[in-house]
Amino acid sequence: MTSIEIRQRFLDFFKEKGHKIVPSSSLLSSDPTVLLTTAGMQQFKEYYLNKPSPYGNRVTSCQKCFRTSDIDEVGDDSHLTFLEMLGNFSFGDYFKTKTIEFAYELLVKKYKIPEFRLWITYFGGDENVPEDNESQKIWQKLGIPREKIFGFDRKDNFWGPTGEEGPCGPTTEIHFDLTQKPCPKGENCRPNCDCGRFVEVWNLVFNEYYQDKEKNLTPLKQKGVDTGMGFERLIMVLQKKSSVFDIDLSEPIIKEIEKNTQKPYNLNQKVYRVITDHIKGAVFLASERVIPSNVEEGYVLRRILRRAIRFSKLLDLPKIFLIPLAQKTIKIYQNVYPEIKSAEADILTIIQNEEEKFEKTLEKGLKEFDKLIETDLVGNKKIISGDKAFWLFETYGFPLELTEELAKEKKLEVDRKGFGKAFKKHQEISRAGAEKKFGGVGKEATYEAARLHTATHLLHQSLRKILGEHVKQMGSDITPQRLRFDFSHLSKMTTEEIDKVENLVNQKIKDNLEVKKEEMEHKEALESGALAFFREKYPERVTVYSVGNFSKEICAGPHVSQTQELNKFKIIKEESAGAGVRRIRAILEE
Ligand code: ALA
Repeated sequence: MTSIEIRQRFLDFFKEKGHKIVPSSSLLSSDPTVLLTTAGMQQFKEYYLNKPSPYGNRVTSCQKCFRTSDIDEVGDDSHLTFLEMLGNFSFGDYFKTKTIEFAYELLVKKYKIPEFRLWITYFGGDENVPEDNESQKIWQKLGIPREKIFGFDRKDNFWGPTGEEGPCGPTTEIHFDLTQKPCPKGENCRPNCDCGRFVEVWNLVFNEYYQDKEKNLTPLKQKGVDTGMGFERLIMVLQKKSSVFDIDLSEPIIKEIEKNTQKPYNLNQKVYRVITDHIKGAVFLASERVIPSNVEEGYVLRRILRRAIRFSKLLDLPKIFLIPLAQKTIKIYQNVYPEIKSAEADILTIIQNEEEKFEKTLEKGLKEFDKLIETDLVGNKKIISGDKAFWLFETYGFPLELTEELAKEKKLEVDRKGFGKAFKKHQEISRAGAEKKFGGVGKEATYEAARLHTATHLLHQSLRKILGEHVKQMGSDITPQRLRFDFSHLSKMTTEEIDKVENLVNQKIKDNLEVKKEEMEHKEALESGALAFFREKYPERVTVYSVGNFSKEICAGPHVSQTQELNKFKIIKEESAGAGVRRIRAILEE
């Protein structure tokens, strides 16, 4: 069976059981407390909490997921950062019996996985949640011997919530016995053993509780089911491969790498696998117009691209080698995710730009890293200082995690806290510099800054209205004379677009909208739709500025109180500010 057939069979099976097939949601999470989509249930989270599901109470999906948390595991046989998750979901409809029966029927009867290779785990109970005897008995009734069913604790058999709060509950997991050979632990070699004998294939979650921000559990009024099967792991089992990289969704990429190097796959597995995993994640993130940057999802994209480039050096791959790999990836997935085909030109541009940028500094940075070790780490000092790590970040574009990985290879550590401090100090210096530009904090200077700040908000919102919601602030700078605004957008703006944006801003100035300032919780601000950047770095309580009903942003100000105070807005220049980033300079005319 090909991966396409396996995926379709899953969805069809649940369709026959009365489920509606729902397409994968975006990789970018709509939950403001979560950056990326890590599980199939995320797009359905509210339907466990009494909000009626527009799709009915039984749904099924194949969801694109990105799990940054597994990045260090990539390279073994079963972990990925980019993966697809198959799932079936019940919102107050069926519960444990049917969920387990469906799973058994699909795996054993439809996919014809030999039953004797399936092992089961379930929640063994703790001080807050009782043992899930019910699930254990259902499995036994289906014919799984008791001695192949194991109770585990919270860490292994309790799932959720995603984000700060939400539905969660005990789980029962299906593990596949890959080797059928116990490790030296003998009888104690069982699911969750780290010897590589077992792979967890399917997680069945019974959402019975709501966990609040303080981690208190309360029973949900309506019980639900959330399941997640690792698609690549299922394929590995069905295609009888020994890793998730040897299946038809990865093999063509591995082969393409092999064609370009003298170093074979079997001797360099981890390196090949990291590159393969990361190029997939990069293609899918870029297909959603994520641009490499130093914040949020842009930083995730930058991190995996730069890591792939660094690993490519270990295979002596040619320069700009990511492009053919990205093309292969698009070919593999385009029939199932047509959006990556239609975004192909943008995806390749984004990747190539980042590759060219990092190629310029990587080699030098690596040399500096080696020197840094020689000069700084003589004697017993085994730590790379935060300042040095920040210097590598600033000067050579080394993400902190890259420095950490390089350090780890030399059995060293990086002072993470110190890096954070250096980062903050750098930001403060930039801010102080900006204040100085306005000639201190004199009244007049502050007023001019306020006018340009308000103009920046109008510009930002107008760009989103005219060019699209993908426009995100990438940077902003104000001097007494002008504002400068960087934003994500792939192509040069046309004269017509520039005119439209300028006119819209001027219209809003004419409308004399009121500028309102409110203080609220950071989360509340995001939920109210306020635009925000540098999501993680905001304090608990933030200031939100609204300009009429037109724009709403988290911002420290200052701002004017009425838009007519801006008089007239003019765009002076539109230009590139790096890959996928445009820059506008504008002034306020008297
Ligand atoms: N949401 C569950 C998981 O991701 C199924 O494992």
